[in-house]
Amino acid sequence: MASLVARGAFILFEGVDRCGKTTQSTKLVEALKSSGVNAELWRYPDRTTSMGQMINSYLQSKTEMDDGAIHLLFAANRWEKRAAMEAKLAEGVTLVVDRYSYSGVAFTAAKGIPGLDLEWCKSPEVGLLRPDAVLYLNMPVEAAAARGGFGEERYETSDLQKAVRANFDKLREDWWTIVDATGTVDEVHAACRAVADDAVAKCVAGAPYARLWD
Ligand code: TMP
Repeated sequence: MASLVARGAFILFEGVDRCGKTTQSTKLVEALKSSGVNAELWRYPDRTTSMGQMINSYLQSKTEMDDGAIHLLFAANRWEKRAAMEAKLAEGVTLVVDRYSYSGVAFTAAKGIPGLDLEWCKSPEVGLLRPDAVLYLNMPVEAAAARGGFGEERYETSDLQKAVRANFDKLREDWWTIVDATGTVDEVHAACRAVADDAVAKCVAGAPYARLWD
């Protein structure tokens, strides 16, 4: 049975490329820290590890890889950080995370490769820590593309992003918070902050850990 101990909260940002996740996750960590919460920003893929460097090279189209193999590598990049993540949370550090397993599943399944459907894509993620809160930054692909323009990395095309968005709709669970990401930076931040404060308070009071996809 999971014990009810004070711990940090795992707060996840998800959404299509260019929806504002990096801006909002950075701003949320700053806000939490300035109100005395011990918080850190993490992101996936973590490009600093040797697996992360292989992923980085693939995303920048410097190397090619089988679609199944790169999917497993993205998942392995989360597994290799799992113990460190759990240790941080146990120390009372709140982790604000920019992308995680939901991106992993939504992106690979969006490629439409026979056999690599949502269920197949989920399986290597099962058993990883489940976030305490998901902030899904909801934005039409056209609005996201208009922001900075796609094109720098492998998955930044409107067609793929539309399929990714449709997959996020299938993956959404009722405990997620859907944030209208078309608002101003401050409006979006205020919505995210309220959810984060609630998640931090619940974890300080003692909350069990949950696993994907229980
Ligand atoms: P980033 O732009 O947030 O660094 O993410 C890099 C790209 O990798 C982005 O297009 C989403 C994609 N991605 C996956 O395909 N699988 C994953 O597991 C993750 C975390 C990201």
